[in-house]
Amino acid sequence: MARRKKIYEGKAKIMYEGPEPGTMVQYFKDDATAFNAEKKATIEGKGVLNNRLSEYFMTGMTQVGIPNHFIKRLNMREQLIRSVEIIPLEVIVRNFAAGSLSKRLGLVEGTPLPRPIVEFCYKDDALGDPLVSEEHIIAFGWATQQDLDDMIALALRVNDFMSGVMLAVGIKLVDFKIEIGRIWENDFHRLIIADEISPDSCRLWDIETGRKLDKDVFRRDLGSLSDAYTEVARRLGVLPTNVTHATKPTLIN
Ligand code: TMP
Repeated sequence: MARRKKIYEGKAKIMYEGPEPGTMVQYFKDDATAFNAEKKATIEGKGVLNNRLSEYFMTGMTQVGIPNHFIKRLNMREQLIRSVEIIPLEVIVRNFAAGSLSKRLGLVEGTPLPRPIVEFCYKDDALGDPLVSEEHIIAFGWATQQDLDDMIALALRVNDFMSGVMLAVGIKLVDFKIEIGRIWENDFHRLIIADEISPDSCRLWDIETGRKLDKDVFRRDLGSLSDAYTEVARRLGVLPTNVTHATKPTLIN
């Protein structure tokens, strides 16, 4: 993999030029950051788990017809994806109050919301990804009204899909963040899910115990982040074989 052209390096991933036009290779690092990179750590194995988990969710979305950038996993840390023109917005969907919504509106974390709430943040690290309204998005030309309608519809489909997948393994999907990109076909474009879907970008709570199984474990110093992500991967049956713990042989009578 020597001398590949690096296109972009972010906090948790690196993008390389892909083997064919219109493709990129997405590499998952072990780095974890929080609070706009004020807090940083390397969590051994996080990149491997997120590569597998994002593959699992994107593949499932493809199977139910939710368009996304995933093509195939290449190895433990890399996947081949379609290159898109990223819309500079973080799209957040919330089912229960938590995090910044709880702070902003004084809501107890875990309070069920009357319906899923979609929020947009403008992707700008220097500004700390501020919350923006649809008015801002249209006025500043980050997306058109049609894009916005499509983004909301896509985000709600992802929410239904992810909520069901998680419920099946005893996990509550509290909220999540996605990024969406444009794919151009002649003069027209359509929107697809890009970036990643992983416990870095979701809030996942065990339904029985309320145990946090997402990046809040790191943000709030609640224990081992890799144990939490491994638990999510184990429940979904997507643990890479060399990360599973060996068990003693059992005698068969
Ligand atoms: P928030 O409550 O901090 O606004 O986060 C909402 C959701 O978005 C939560 O699932 C975590 C995710 N998220 C990211 O993926 N990246 C970020 O930079 C932030 C702040 C949140």
